[in-house]
Amino acid sequence: MRDLNEHNITDAVLESFAATPNTRLLTIVNSLVRHLHGFVKDIEPTFDEWLYAIQFLTRTGQLSDSSRQEFILLSDVLGVSMLVDAINHRLPEGATQTTVLGPFFVDNAPDLKQGQDISQGAAGTPLYVEVNVAAASGEALPDAVVDVWQSDSDGFYDVQRADGDGHNLRGRFRTGPQGELRFWSITPTAYPIPDDGPVGDLLKASQRHSWRPAHLHFMISAEGYQTLVTHIFVDGDRYLDSDTVFGVKQSLIDTFPERPAGTGPDGRLLASPWRQLNYSFGLMPS
Ligand code: BEZ
Ligand code: FE
Repeated sequence: MRDLNEHNITDAVLESFAATPNTRLLTIVNSLVRHLHGFVKDIEPTFDEWLYAIQFLTRTGQLSDSSRQEFILLSDVLGVSMLVDAINHRLPEGATQTTVLGPFFVDNAPDLKQGQDISQGAAGTPLYVEVNVAAASGEALPDAVVDVWQSDSDGFYDVQRADGDGHNLRGRFRTGPQGELRFWSITPTAYPIPDDGPVGDLLKASQRHSWRPAHLHFMISAEGYQTLVTHIFVDGDRYLDSDTVFGVKQSLIDTFPERPAGTGPDGRLLASPWRQLNYSFGLMPS
């Protein structure tokens, strides 16, 4: 291992890892070294560029903690999150397609009763959500746990608001005897992902925008089934074909039809037009 040069250093590094006992780790490290060396040979960075890359990753790490995960955002805007998702969800017909979890899921959202309103009076067009949860094979799934979360009409999630208690426009429900779930919210709107860090710098330097099309998040778990992490997107949104995290799937778009002011499906009186979401989810056995 002397006089290594650009032609033989890759083999020398691979050889240095050859005794790794964990075979999966060995596979991963070998591939990482091969691709990383290939990448460096491809771009032939100057020292200044290499240092910039180190500083970019350092800033990305420094901006990552329990409330802001810049590394996940980086994975998202590079399409890596959706690639990992696609590899792990090669789903058959009948199963609902998956998409990114995103950084705004909260594990201890309040338990809510069917029919409740998760918006707690937040501004926006009222939305009545009627969904059903079933196995991909068709059988209804009662008592499934359904977490829902969304941004407010200014494009912020509760956890991004310094003044909030972290529990608005989100909740945890259980499906009824036929796998049904009904609740009120407000119609989601498009919003930008946090773009005041290195990921935002990358987007700006690439003339990419930071917007996600309007969507409502769902995480659904039921005994004996794979947990489903997905969104339902609002048809007509201008960012459906340029989602900055590449998360849109045609089967996850719904029209959220508008209904006139009057009496809602559960007897609620609505002074202005409201919208409705109907969707059926299909879960895969675990
Ligand atoms: C979200 O949908 O909440 C989200 C997903 C990826 C990055 C940022 C936000
Ligand atoms: Fe979101």
